[in-house]
Amino acid sequence: MIKRTAAISGILLLCGQAMPSFAAEASRNYKSLCVSCHGKDAKGVPAMTKVFKVAPSEMDLTSEEVQAKADADLAKAIHDGKGKMPAFKNKLSDKQIAELVKFVKTPGAAQKP
Ligand code: HEC
Repeated sequence: MIKRTAAISGILLLCGQAMPSFAAEASRNYKSLCVSCHGKDAKGVPAMTKVFKVAPSEMDLTSEEVQAKADADLAKAIHDGKGKMPAFKNKLSDKQIAELVKFVKTPGAAQKP
């Protein structure tokens, strides 16, 4: 029974029918804290990549490079900052950061309002 429930929620997630429960808060945090640099589509705001002089792919959270990184590495970048990326440890709890990592790793999550 437990297996079946897990399988069903897995299918629902894959189909994008049910947004994972983390999404609402993570989505709000993303919009208020991250959109200015990473954009509504998470592909990075082109003007910001120029201001920071970084390769557009580095600010594109949907890029293969970023998606291939371990959750712990992405959480660390958000927590401590990285290069031109500011640290968020004073603004977000570890749990909120973990949820933002899941959010960033959910295809299309940032695009959904
Ligand atoms: C002031 C602009 C700015 C804001 C705001 C910002 N970022 Fe970034 N972010 C960057 C830049 C610049 C990089 C590229 C850093 C590098 O690789 O040098 C980056 C990189 C990243 C990476 C990839 C890290 C890696 O290891 O490749 C993640 C994940 C990320 N940001 C998530 C977020 C999240 C989540 C938020 C909101 C809580 C956020 N960023 C807010 C500028 C920003």
